[in-house]
Amino acid sequence: YFLGQKVSTPHRQNTTIKLASDKVVDTFKTEGIDGKAVYCRCWKSAKFPYCDGAHNKYNKETGDNLGPLIISKE
Ligand code: FES
Repeated sequence: YFLGQKVSTPHRQNTTIKLASDKVVDTFKTEGIDGKAVYCRCWKSAKFPYCDGAHNKYNKETGDNLGPLIISKE
């Protein structure tokens, strides 16, 4: 239990991306962002590290509320 709520058994979030790596790290230079960049945080995107909208299907199936990180130039 955590903060009075039942916590489910820990499990893998990432089941597809760079599984041979101990840790998945991606680095971007802001000069490479043209206007807006949308990055996946649900680990379901076929275009990882970019969001391809796969979070919508995952959220619908699980009741979760995952979404991307959006970085834009001012
Ligand atoms: Fe993963 Fe959109 S596909 S956050």
